[in-house]
Order: sequence, then C-alpha cells, then structure tokens
Amino acid sequence: MKAIAIDTFGGSELLKLADLPIPHPKDNEIQIAVEYAGVNPVDWKIREGFFKSKMPHEFPLILGWDAAGTISAVGKNVSQFTIGDRVFAYCRKPTIKEGTYAEYVCFDANQVAKIPSKLSFAQAAALPLVALTAWQALFDVAKLQKGQTVLIHAGSGGVGSLAIQLAKNAGARVLTTCSENNHAYVKKLGADLVIDYTKESFVEKIQEKMGGVDVLLDTIGGKTLRDSLTIVNPGGCLVSIIEQVGAEVIQDKDIRTGYVFVRPDGKELEEVARLMEIGKLVPPEISEFPLKEAAKAHEKIKAGHTRGKIVLKIGSAA
Ligand SMILES: NC(=O)c1ccc[n+]([C@@H]2O[C@H](COP(=O)([O-])OP(=O)(O)OC[C@H]3O[C@@H](n4cnc5c(N)ncnc54)[C@H](OP(=O)(O)O)[C@@H]3O)[C@@H](O)[C@H]2O)c1
Repeated sequence: MKAIAIDTFGGSELLKLADLPIPHPKDNEIQIAVEYAGVNPVDWKIREGFFKSKMPHEFPLILGWDAAGTISAVGKNVSQFTIGDRVFAYCRKPTIKEGTYAEYVCFDANQVAKIPSKLSFAQAAALPLVALTAWQALFDVAKLQKGQTVLIHAGSGGVGSLAIQLAKNAGARVLTTCSENNHAYVKKLGADLVIDYTKESFVEKIQEKMGGVDVLLDTIGGKTLRDSLTIVNPGGCLVSIIEQVGAEVIQDKDIRTGYVFVRPDGKELEEVARLMEIGKLVPPEISEFPLKEAAKAHEKIKAGHTRGKIVLKIGSAA
C-alpha cells in the first residue's frame, strides 16, 4: 500500500511515498481503507523525534493519528461494524509505527465511531484528535459548567475550533486569543470576546473586562501559561495540553491545574459525531493536500498559524 513513512527522525524532506505491506486486523480490530488523514502538530513533533523518550517508536514509521474512511475488513470479535461502514478514529497505539498517512490502518473497534451522514471524509478526518482533546480538557479535567467563563488560547487552531463550540454548547461565556486575521472565524464558531494576542495583553484585557476566568485552556505553554495562571479565579481550573504545571508554579493560589495527553475514547467520539449530526457542532475550516505533498502540510502545520485543520487526501472518495 501507499504510505508516508520515515526510517529516521528528521525534517519534512523525509516525507516520501513508500510501498509497505497492508496491515491485517487483530480479533478486536477493524481495517479502515483510509480516504483522508488528519494532520496535527504532534505529527511533525514525532517526525523530529520529540516523542522519543515518551513512547516506543519503530521504523519504518508511518505518521498520522487521525483517519476517516471505509471499513474494509473486521476482526473475528467485532460485531458492531460491518465492511463498508464509514468511520473515523483517533488511531494512537502504544507503539508509534502504524499511522494513518496510509491507504489502510487497523485499529481497536471500540475506539472508532461512525461518521455523521452530513460530513465528508475530509471533514471527519479533521476531527478525532482535536475534538477529543477539547472534550477531555474542558469536561473530563476542568469540569466546565454552565454560566462559567472560559479562556481558550488559539481559538482559531484545530483544538480551539472545537473547544470554542463545546464550551459554548455547555453554556459558558467563551473568550479566546488569536490574531486579527482569524477574529471573524472564531466569532462565527461562538466566541463572545476575542483578544488579538499580537497587539494586546490578554491578562490586562481580561482583568479590565471581568477580573478573571473560571476555566483556562492552555494550548501554548511557556510564558502564555505562566501569565494565564494570574487570571484564573480562586476555585478555578487551568488545564494545559502542552505542559504539566507543578505545585511550585501554582504556589499558594487556590486553583486546580491539569494536563491532558489525549487518549482514544470511542464513547466520547460517538458523542462528538452525534453533536455534528444534529448541527450543534460544525467542522473546522479545512485545507487539503494530496498524500504525496505531506511535506508541505508539515511545513504549514509547523508554522503554527493554521486556521482550522489540515487534511491529506489518500483515497478517491469525496
Ligand atoms: N496534549 C495533547 O493531547 C494535545 C492534543 C492536541 C494538541 N496539542 C498541542 O496543542 C497545541 C495546539 O494544537 P492545535 O492542533 O490547536 O494547533 P494549530 O491548529 O496548529 O494552532 C494554530 C493556531 O494557533 C494560533 N496561535 C499561534 N500562536 C498563538 C499564540 N501565541 N496565542 C494565541 N493563538 C496562537 C494561530 O492563530 P494566528 O494565526 O491568528 O496566530 C493558529 O490559528 C500544539 O502544540 C499541539 O501539539 C496537544
């Protein structure tokens, strides 16, 4: 099968088409004939070796954790899906080896969901990793409640595009940061207040407008994270998807902190699919590249200014 695989860690020039064996499903797995793969910042980080000490890797290593496609085979213990079902999934496995930038991928059937009928394969491939991240950060960790105020950094990115909508649906007041170029986009997704981080201090603006926030979703880390700690209300929660926040950083502040490393979750993905089906969520804006141009997609995602999501077209379906 065609796949984008690497034999060593390094730059985007390593991303070339390879011919590799088709994987076969284990008893509890399905095989997906992949139409589109989602591209996430973690993909370039893995390519450059940033996850070397965190997870086992094996070469040749097919990149990519998001897939949308059609089931082409099922393992003998799988009863909830049949060949031909349109499905999507966040396909992170314990060893980084068999990713989704490929014509076929196999994955645990319990972590896969059916694609909502109104979504294209491209839209579906853009969702699993970012939607699950936003869900797990806002609800599993921060326990966001109706009436609370939440600040979501980088609302125009992949995670932000879903987090804004999920927070809004939960009845929260939603503040977000991004450059002016993306203000119209995040307002359309439901943001109540947008702060241009390139021109003004989000700390000063929030202190001036409402004093502080109840929940803060950090997608940037570093100074942004440390500054963010100063505007979380007592009793509130800062959840980061970039860094663990140690007790020495929180000191005597009366706030909770948490870190999310997104995990596959079929039930949460089904709920995302249901919200998409009934129109309570809309897919992010999408930029599409053919599989053979994966290197260009990596350069774009690494630049850090993607609006919405990037996907790679692999199959022939729309
Ligand atoms: N721990 C986990 O499980 C997990 C899961 C998902 C993602 N992540 C990480 O979280 C980060 C965000 O992921 P993503 O998929 O949302 O990334 P992304 O789609 O690449 O984010 C791009 C967006 O970030 C905005 N941005 C860049 N710098 C900013 C700043 N200083 N302040 C506010 N907005 C800024 C850009 O807006 P402008 O162009 O307007 O600047 C752009 O729209 C990445 O580092 C990713 O690796 C971690």
